[in-house]
Amino acid sequence: MSTLDPTVLANASGLGAIDRSGGRVDVSEKAMINARADVNQLLPLKYHWAWEKYLAGCNNHWMPTEVSMQADIALWRSPDGLTADERLMLQRNLGFFATAESLVANNIVLAVYRHLTNPECRQYLLRQAFEEAVHTHTFQYICESLGLDEGELFNMYREVPSIADKDSWALQYTQTLEDPDFTTGTTEKDQAFLRDLLAFYVVFEGMWFYTGFAQILSLGRRNKMVGIAEQYQYILRDESIHLNFGIDVINQIKLENPHLWTQAFQAEIRTMLGEACELEVVYGRETMPRGMLGLTAASCETYLRFITDRRCAQLGLAPLFGVTDNPFPWMSEVMDLRKEKNFFETRVTEYQTGGGLSWD
Ligand SMILES: [Fe+2]
Ligand SMILES: [Fe+2]
Repeated sequence: MSTLDPTVLANASGLGAIDRSGGRVDVSEKAMINARADVNQLLPLKYHWAWEKYLAGCNNHWMPTEVSMQADIALWRSPDGLTADERLMLQRNLGFFATAESLVANNIVLAVYRHLTNPECRQYLLRQAFEEAVHTHTFQYICESLGLDEGELFNMYREVPSIADKDSWALQYTQTLEDPDFTTGTTEKDQAFLRDLLAFYVVFEGMWFYTGFAQILSLGRRNKMVGIAEQYQYILRDESIHLNFGIDVINQIKLENPHLWTQAFQAEIRTMLGEACELEVVYGRETMPRGMLGLTAASCETYLRFITDRRCAQLGLAPLFGVTDNPFPWMSEVMDLRKEKNFFETRVTEYQTGGGLSWD
């Protein structure tokens, strides 16, 4: 087990006493975790990919209240506007996201931020934290617009077993980190940090959110709940950058700390992804007990396995399932807002989109 001189980490937060005798920051001293460089100095930049994602996030600014909810309200109130199955799926989907956005935000602010010792990555985390607030705002706005039972919506993560199971699974990894005495700097603790990044960036935002997007966007494709579908398109655009940031962070930490990425640790990560996939399969069955809108629990399962294998590849891991064909190819079309502006035949504000980033 490698250990670091505790003085190296004395100012990991950036709030310690100013070192008046130290030299200026050299870019070579900057590091993702356990950095020796002053975390308060953004320049000189080392990780240009993090800065580019910060700029792309800012270019993608949107607010949920700019999307009209009139068509959704009329459909929701109409007795035969949605089938009982569609209502169940929509409510559970909203119930999952309503608190998931807060869990992700709290993980960034209270767990990840402290331990990621690089100012350009922290700059992105500040932007991401705001975007998660915008996403939580979206669910407040939907709840208010449709007149949903707010107690029911915001308690589903406690009361619907498949949602509670997913959230509990992820929370165990952030609970390790939020201990005030937790610091990185040993192999064991640096691996605990990687597990948290994996649970939130890859699983929560990169796997579980994607089946949720597929459910709502499939409603939108059939001209149902078009306002919510439009909001989900914007959330998906944001989340796609969150996911790619998380993958870049994990891969950069691996590059700088190859001793962390042992065969045993890789096997453990693959097991985690497999567990997360199974939890989502149960959620899919509980959310869509019967098929609807061309979606079935089975096709969502295949989609999730496809996504899981894609995430394995992005992390340099062997695939878990060997699913190479995307059962929902229309999802990749939806992700390009510039091409698909009129996708839902509703007003879409021409927000500037971040160019040059690939959507995953
Ligand atoms: Fe979000
Ligand atoms: Fe996110």
